[in-house]
Amino acid sequence: MGISYVWAEVLGLLITSFMLYRSWFAPLARLPGPLICSMTRLPLMYHEFHGDRRLFIHSLHMQYGPVVRVAPNEVSYATREAVKEIYASGGSGYDKSSFYSLFQNFETGNMFSTLQKDEHAAVKKQFAERYSKIHVSKPEVSSVIQENVDAFMSRATERLGASVDIYDLLHCFSLDGITGHLFHPSGLHSQSDPKDHKFMEELSYSSGLRRAYFRHYFPTLWWVYSKVTGVTRRRGVSGLVDAYVLKTAREATVDPHTVLDKLRTADARNPQRPALLSASECMDHLAAGIDTTGDGLCFLMHHLSRPTPASRRVQEKLREELVQHPGKSLDDLPYLDAVVKEGLRVFSPIPMSFPRVVPSGGRVVDGVPLPGGTIVSCQPYTLHRFDTDVFPDPDEFVPERWLAAERAAERNQLFFAFAAGGRGCIGKHLALLEMKLLLRDVYSTYRTRVAPDMVASMEQDDQTISSRPKGRKCLVTFEKLNDF
Ligand code: HEM
Repeated sequence: MGISYVWAEVLGLLITSFMLYRSWFAPLARLPGPLICSMTRLPLMYHEFHGDRRLFIHSLHMQYGPVVRVAPNEVSYATREAVKEIYASGGSGYDKSSFYSLFQNFETGNMFSTLQKDEHAAVKKQFAERYSKIHVSKPEVSSVIQENVDAFMSRATERLGASVDIYDLLHCFSLDGITGHLFHPSGLHSQSDPKDHKFMEELSYSSGLRRAYFRHYFPTLWWVYSKVTGVTRRRGVSGLVDAYVLKTAREATVDPHTVLDKLRTADARNPQRPALLSASECMDHLAAGIDTTGDGLCFLMHHLSRPTPASRRVQEKLREELVQHPGKSLDDLPYLDAVVKEGLRVFSPIPMSFPRVVPSGGRVVDGVPLPGGTIVSCQPYTLHRFDTDVFPDPDEFVPERWLAAERAAERNQLFFAFAAGGRGCIGKHLALLEMKLLLRDVYSTYRTRVAPDMVASMEQDDQTISSRPKGRKCLVTFEKLNDF
């Protein structure tokens, strides 16, 4: 009894000394932040498991300023200088943290889950061209997207004046878009085919946040859990999407302009390439392409449909531009561009931190010297709100801010919805084309309003990396322009 008491005291003393060292003497000790966060990661983990890491980090920035120590070994930034250094120095910034290993598929890595930047660059080279602006604008590629826009417009027209769940329909639209880009003509048609609709349901209604953090922090326990329960997937339970991607990657006939065609060229050039590499890559693009574009459009269209003078005014200005310039290229529609950008600023589909690791030997990030191994990050949600000189009234939806010449460079440097540098979003041009083609056709034909029976919450509900409407339902009505 006496001996165990002494051991308990020694252990307590050691833990206390370690925590005091972390908060007062460790290299990060001078950085602002709550005392408890400098001693232990538990507060951050608590918010991660509760799905409000983004809001916790944001509240710390509002309290402590642009640089905050959010855990003993982790620092969050809210400045342009930090974005440049962390994500773009040397082209693609620092290596990713082990958090990204979660994004492997079929127990096989892919570009997004690759931690080291050199390895990442080699993977990216194999298919990056398929996502360039030039490629996605080619008629054979953009016509596939336009077919999906036409299918969306048909659904809206069939139900004119009635409630339409655009959460459902927009996720179908983006699923059909990304699978078309990867596999055409073997893509899905979930907007019109109930069999394909099941794929969207598996992807966009399931939740994997706690599972992902559990796996990240407790890999051994996760291993035991997955052996006992047989659960290995990141999300979804039926494995429908996994089976579709595996089969399609292996057997489907695809057009020469698709991403899979390019991956097959890489497979043919290098017979040593692991068999599941292309399937893992396609699965990642599919997952990256559905919720981001679907949620981004859903938040934006919901906002435009609200019964407020501000939203009505934006719809009217948008319609004016579209109706007055029917044949113009998307690049010549500045108000449409500003509406999309403002939507992605206020409702970023991936709003939370993108963690990176300071290289060995240490670096100075925005004037702060950091030792190698420190985890550093920025998050769009905060970058889009923190500097109110650049973004006045940051929670207000004001597309016009993107049209002003003053401070344009600073605004663009702080716009982080697609991240920045060589590891930023590869699907950006595809996503923007999908969003703009859809909004152009919808708002030059119809007016949208939040439906009278819409009661679901549109609060941003954070998932492992993306964020979606909490109620997973968004009812709006489409009305003919000359009907109001
Ligand atoms: C509005 C829509 C979209 C948004 C806001 C968005 C945002 C982002 C962001 C912020 C990242 C970097 C994340 C990080 O570093 O942790 C990213 C990466 C990525 N995105 Fe997107 N994305 C969108 C649409 C798409 C689409 C349609 C695709 C289709 C393939 C896609 C594929 C990817 C891939 C593959 C990466 C990893 C890039 C790499 O590792 O180099 N995204 N996206």
